[in-house]
Amino acid sequence: TLLKSTLSILAGATLLLSTQLMAAPIELKFSHVVAENTPKGQMAIKFRDLVNERLAGKVKVEVFPNAQLFGDNKVLEAMLLGDVQMAAPSLSKFERYTSKLQIFDLPFLFKDMAAVDRFQQGPDGQQLLNSLKSKGLIGLGYLHNGLKQLSADKMLKVPEDARGLKFRIMSSDVLQAQFEQVGAIPIKKPFSEVFTLLQTRAIDGQENTWSNIYSKKFYEVQPYITETNHGLLDYLVVTSTEFWTGLPDDVRTELKKSLDEAIAYGNKIAAQKARSDRQAIIDSGRSKVIELTAAERQQWVEAMKPVWKKFSKEIGQDLINSAVQSNQ
Ligand code: LMR
Repeated sequence: TLLKSTLSILAGATLLLSTQLMAAPIELKFSHVVAENTPKGQMAIKFRDLVNERLAGKVKVEVFPNAQLFGDNKVLEAMLLGDVQMAAPSLSKFERYTSKLQIFDLPFLFKDMAAVDRFQQGPDGQQLLNSLKSKGLIGLGYLHNGLKQLSADKMLKVPEDARGLKFRIMSSDVLQAQFEQVGAIPIKKPFSEVFTLLQTRAIDGQENTWSNIYSKKFYEVQPYITETNHGLLDYLVVTSTEFWTGLPDDVRTELKKSLDEAIAYGNKIAAQKARSDRQAIIDSGRSKVIELTAAERQQWVEAMKPVWKKFSKEIGQDLINSAVQSNQ
């Protein structure tokens, strides 16, 4: 009987332990590299709040901004190892996983964010969400930041002005080609290092959105920003196939719904910040914002456009044509 009661106590303890384990919420870590007062920062917070309310006790989302948890180069590897479950790297940071997403880096491809939307939400854009499947990653949706501007310690009006200057770029061969096209020296560096590189003048300039230039104070160490709108900085919200397919169906459905709402919210913030952060920079008086004449801008277009041809094979000319179509 002693054995019997010991066994039943053991069984009881095991049952208690396993229900406790079952009841432990699924941990979802969301890692990103930008500040909280940005489209991505706000989207992640919105997603966290929606999920932690709607799936209380089932899922617990935690957001890690400012490259606190993982920087640009590590986050996707960490995701495949299960150390982080969600991230939204810029579309320029996937080239080690697929060449297809490089389309978004082609200079002067989209005339405005409405065109970007048409392409991303159309059949080809939606198809691209699956371009990482063979690598064990799933694209859950696009998030906007906006169009990029060129900042430098020198006034840039025409492509010739950029010759010989060092620009930090994201890890993208298309962006590398874009700067080489104007005789500049592109240097691939993680986002977390940009401010210091600019401040110490290890580099002369960089390209980014108004939101990133403002929230990371690049404008305080870059006396000139040329409003080129020459390229796109958008994000792919990603998760690992293993994590996503391992979720209970009802949880996955609710997560996706919350994410879609958070993305819509983030996109609204992106549109607002493209205006308000630009204005805040002008108002600061720290950096001069240079508007180009149509003729000056056309020089940048002509100088950078050959990049399209260089990458047309890798990306696919049909896909490029489809993106161009979205401008109409
Ligand atoms: C950059 O590296 O400049 C951007 O990708 C940062 C970001 O995530 O917006």
